[in-house]
Amino acid sequence: MTQRIALIAGNWKMNLSITEAVALVSTLRDELKGTNNPEVLVAPPFTTLTAVREVVKDSPIMLGAQNMHWEDAGAFTGEISGRMLLEVGCTHVILGHSERRLIFHETDEMIDKKVKKAFEVGLTPILCIGETLEQREAGKTFDILRGQLGGCLASFITQGALPKGLILAYEPVWAIGTGKTASPEQAQEAHEFVRGWIEQKFGDEQALGLRILYGGSVKPDNISSLMAQPDIDGALVGGASLKAETFLGIIRHEA
Ligand code: PGA
Repeated sequence: MTQRIALIAGNWKMNLSITEAVALVSTLRDELKGTNNPEVLVAPPFTTLTAVREVVKDSPIMLGAQNMHWEDAGAFTGEISGRMLLEVGCTHVILGHSERRLIFHETDEMIDKKVKKAFEVGLTPILCIGETLEQREAGKTFDILRGQLGGCLASFITQGALPKGLILAYEPVWAIGTGKTASPEQAQEAHEFVRGWIEQKFGDEQALGLRILYGGSVKPDNISSLMAQPDIDGALVGGASLKAETFLGIIRHEA
C-alpha cells in the first residue's frame, strides 16, 4: 500500500507583520529541529515570504504562497505570478481557497488555469474545495465537490492525466474560522468521495498517492481524531497556525 506522508500546512491569510512572522517561524524551526514527520508548511502573506524563507531555508519547514495568477507576467495589477513565487523560494501554492472564491469571485475555470500553471512552473498546488452550509443542508455536498473537482481539474481531464504531486484540501466553508469542525466521520466521508473521484478519472496510483488535507477549525484537541481517519492525510490550518503553541500542538498531535 502507498504510504502517504502526513502534511500540516499553516495558512496565515492576511495576518502578521514581518517581525511577527519571523518570530513565529523561528520558534517553529527551533522546536521542530531534527523532526520531519509530519511534513510542515507555512503559507505567509506575500510581503513576508522573503523574510520567512531566510529563517526556514536550512530547515525542513516548507514555504507556500496563498494564491497566484495563471500568467507569467503582464498587465495584471495587484497580481503575483508562479515564477515570482518560485523566485522567492516557494515550493507550494494554495489555490481556490473558499475566501478567494467567495470574496474575490474566483471561478473553477480560473482555478483550473492556476493549477495548470503551477505545475508548469514547478510549484505544488494545494487545491481547496468544499461546500457551504446551505449546500450541505440541501444534501448537495457530493455534487458540489464533484463540480469543483471537475471544473478545477478540467485541463487534466481533457489531457487524460494528472501530474504527480497534487495536494487537495477539503475545507467545508461552514467550518472555516467558525470553531465548528466537521466530525471525523463527515470529513472522512468527503475525503473518501474525493479519492474515489480521483481514482475514477486518473486511476488507482494517483488516488492512492494523493494527499487530502482537512481544513476548517483544526485545533490541537481535534487533530488526532481527524488524523485517525484513513483518508485524512493532514490539515490546512488557519487561525490555529498563527500561534506557535497551537500550531505545534497540532503538528505533534497533542490532544
Ligand atoms: P481555520 O481556517 O483553521 O481558521 O478554520 C482554515 C482555512 O481557511 O484554511
